[in-house]
Amino acid sequence: MACLVAVGCSALQGLPAPADTSLREHLSLDANLLSTPDTSVREHLSLDANWKFHLGDDWPGALRLDKAGTSGGPAMEKGFSDLMWRTVDLPHDWAVEVPFDEHADLGHGFKAVGPGFEKTSIGWYRREFTLPKEDEGKRIWLTFDGVYRDATVWVNGWLVRRHESGYYPFREEITDVAKFGARNVISVRVDATKFEGWWYEGAGIYRHVWLDKTAPVAIAPDGIFVRTEFAGNTPNGDPDIKIDAEVLNSQTNSVDATVQGEVFSPEGKSVAAFSGSEKVDAGAKATVKLQSKIPSPVLWSPESPKLYKLVTTVSVGDKIVDRKETAFGIRTVAFDPAAGFLLNGKHYPIYGVCNHQDHAGVGVAIPDALHEFRIKKLKEFGCNAIRTSHNPPTPELLEACDRLGILVLDENRLLGSDSENLDKLEEMIRRDRNHPSIFLWGIANEEGAVQSSALAGRIALTMQNALKRLDPTRLATYAAAEEDSFWGINGVIDVRGWNYHPFPCTDTYHAKHPDQPNIGTEQGSTVATRGIYEEDPARGHVAAYDHAPSQWVQDAETWWSWYAERPWLSGGFVWTGFDYRGEPTPYGWPDINSHFGVLDMCGFPKDNFYYYKAWWTPDVVLHLLPHWNWPGKEGREIRVDALSNCKAVELFLNGVSLGKKTMKPNSKLTWMVKYAPGILSAKGFDAEGKVIAETKVETTGEATQLRLTPDRATIKADGEDVSVFTVTALDAKGRVVPTAQNKIDFTLEGEGQIIGVGNGDPSCHESDQFIASLPVQSVAVTDWRWKEMKIPAKGSPIPEYAGDFNDSAWSALKEDRDPNVQLIKTSDTTAVFRAHFTLTEEDVKGVGAQITFPGCDDDGWYFVNGHFVGESHDAGAHPVFDIKKFLRAGDNVIAVGVSNGYGEGGLTPGGRVDIVGKASPVQWSRSLFNGLAQVIVQSTRQAGEFKLTASAKGLKPATDTVKTEPSVPRPSIP
Ligand code: GAL
Repeated sequence: MACLVAVGCSALQGLPAPADTSLREHLSLDANLLSTPDTSVREHLSLDANWKFHLGDDWPGALRLDKAGTSGGPAMEKGFSDLMWRTVDLPHDWAVEVPFDEHADLGHGFKAVGPGFEKTSIGWYRREFTLPKEDEGKRIWLTFDGVYRDATVWVNGWLVRRHESGYYPFREEITDVAKFGARNVISVRVDATKFEGWWYEGAGIYRHVWLDKTAPVAIAPDGIFVRTEFAGNTPNGDPDIKIDAEVLNSQTNSVDATVQGEVFSPEGKSVAAFSGSEKVDAGAKATVKLQSKIPSPVLWSPESPKLYKLVTTVSVGDKIVDRKETAFGIRTVAFDPAAGFLLNGKHYPIYGVCNHQDHAGVGVAIPDALHEFRIKKLKEFGCNAIRTSHNPPTPELLEACDRLGILVLDENRLLGSDSENLDKLEEMIRRDRNHPSIFLWGIANEEGAVQSSALAGRIALTMQNALKRLDPTRLATYAAAEEDSFWGINGVIDVRGWNYHPFPCTDTYHAKHPDQPNIGTEQGSTVATRGIYEEDPARGHVAAYDHAPSQWVQDAETWWSWYAERPWLSGGFVWTGFDYRGEPTPYGWPDINSHFGVLDMCGFPKDNFYYYKAWWTPDVVLHLLPHWNWPGKEGREIRVDALSNCKAVELFLNGVSLGKKTMKPNSKLTWMVKYAPGILSAKGFDAEGKVIAETKVETTGEATQLRLTPDRATIKADGEDVSVFTVTALDAKGRVVPTAQNKIDFTLEGEGQIIGVGNGDPSCHESDQFIASLPVQSVAVTDWRWKEMKIPAKGSPIPEYAGDFNDSAWSALKEDRDPNVQLIKTSDTTAVFRAHFTLTEEDVKGVGAQITFPGCDDDGWYFVNGHFVGESHDAGAHPVFDIKKFLRAGDNVIAVGVSNGYGEGGLTPGGRVDIVGKASPVQWSRSLFNGLAQVIVQSTRQAGEFKLTASAKGLKPATDTVKTEPSVPRPSIP
């Protein structure tokens, strides 16, 4: 309503002019800038901190697809207050926060998210940021590394992107809708109602979010591809280094872009430099190809993860317009049908694990430091490879694998050669192909409905061809749960992947197809609960004697001995490295997480850890199971296993030998022992009969004290780093009590915050997170009065909006006003509505305050105590405004100017003022499970220290302090 907008705006004297520039101004500004390219280079800024979050789809009409720029509710830039929303930092997974529900999906760990749980499956996020005026003319990009799932993103109320899959990054250029020298608002609606997998997938913006600024001529997103090539598959001589650098030009004139590359060795020495130029047409992209040699290369391997750095710059004329660093490694990866996988020219058995992406306490929202923690845990038992089942991982996991040394089978989510699936495949390859850790791409997993069909074969071939075009340096596999079928995918795939099945078929297949390499993509799936040695279906616990729950899967010893004897199978990946939420095989409710892990949800080792360590590392290993606390079982036989790589093991109970047994390679030893409390001990012997290892398991007393052990005693004060504490129950003699289940309370003081707790019990329904809720006090707005008046002349003040205006003679607005009966009768009149509410001194001191209006027809301008707070232009809107700074103790006045719109003019009576108070601290707690629990503490940005205390009834508490050392946080927008 043009005339009334004019009335409203002209009445708002003293308000800043609208920040938007007209399209014409905007374009001419661009044209100016384009002729003088910006000389500043890329900024890559974290947008993780300070998001507002609301669980629930309370604005079902917010998404509007009929007209551009009309979305409502939280999608709006103005006219919406997120004051009552919680502040969260990313990564964030709200599925961890919601309760378990027996009726929820078993595969997803019985969390109240997904089909049937709509109220807790949709969440909204909002985040403000400011762009300085000087950024005008730069290109601005917004990148989400991963949102689970179905994300709709608005910037300043403008719908910029819809993206469904929870496992692929998405990026959008937001230059056109961004505001420079002004506040910007990102709104994200996340809908996790549908599943993408059959395991726990989390919910929310669970990976990082970035804002990138570049000059108009810049390196394209994921536009650097660097690889080294030796003559052949062995690293002999000096390799060629080849670089493809894609340069984007958003200017209206073509440019000659010069790309320069410089390579730095792992020691930081410059070892190669090269450059090339290309003409990049206006609005187009060009690839500059560079090639050189790397002298005397230092090779990358899991044992020696040496990284080189490529620095790429782009110049136009004599100005550098972009600069990017890319880490890479020099190694060869190849598959030989007879020799299996070859790393740097030598057979290299894959000691691998498959993993999903959740951890105790935090769900899928894993801080970068926790990825490192997890990788280090895997490496402890000799694991040298991860399969990112069944989706591409977060980039920080790959960076950690490059740095710490672990190979990666990077797996795509779904089989498909349609454009959507090929686009996703391309996203994955372009993002990940520089990582030296990746040795193989996975196109899909167990597509049982189609895998043997000609259709699936054609699709797989198209995907494999796309992979080769995007990355000619690696091969593809497909994780097939099939016997020796060569139909469909197996017949076309580079490397035959084996998921389970009785093994003789691998030999038959290999004999029939001797030219195809093989790999064990998924093996094991044995179930074990940490520290449990008796089946307990009622509690959902499985004895940890390495038990295969169905005929088509094999225990550790069976699968690994088969693979160890057949190098052509390349080794394989255990299902799984860590337990994960969901798939609680072999049980259901109350079991909520899987038992497949070599490690539990927290990363505490189960006994199989020692089986793999024995056969996957050169270390001498001798481990006994079970624990030796069996009161009431005296005289009864208990199975005792020794997991060891010693040539022979002798077992003793209370000093008496129970016999010496010879160990076969890749196996374990078992005794049946009549229980008597005391010391169960073992000696391990080498081939000459010399004792090379000793171990013991003792019957302990009751728990009397607690111990806290951080994985790192000093962490970075960057607001992101974490220290992972183990809480242990000890008896009076300081021995770990393997059966303790005490409930522990945690308090934290200083520069840290607890972000999650866990204990590895697959049936524990205690909270992983304790969230402070904001106390809200609501004051109803009643007794509206109103007055119809002539539309004031443009620019003239409207005294009726003022706080102290006397409205006592105005008419009362009926509470049950029929919205179909128009109040404003003539086209040259408007109306002002006023209401009062009273606040105390205490109310005004609250953390924040907002006002919600039931709505008005159809344009409204809102004032609190004479201050303009916002406007609405949609009859259906329920505008909400942040009003804290305008409030006063005593009488407060709201005034609303309403247009007569298309003749419906009027205000819906009602409204609410919400005063938000301070959140009280929450008490974190967790029960021990078989003696252990875990607490994850994150640093603040303030250097200093934090002190964690664990206490439990009847036990001596434990306290431990972690230093947080000064560190430069990553560049971010606060
Ligand atoms: C496999 C599947 C995995 C997991 C596993 C459990 O067939 O690929 O995702 O479900 O079974 O045993």
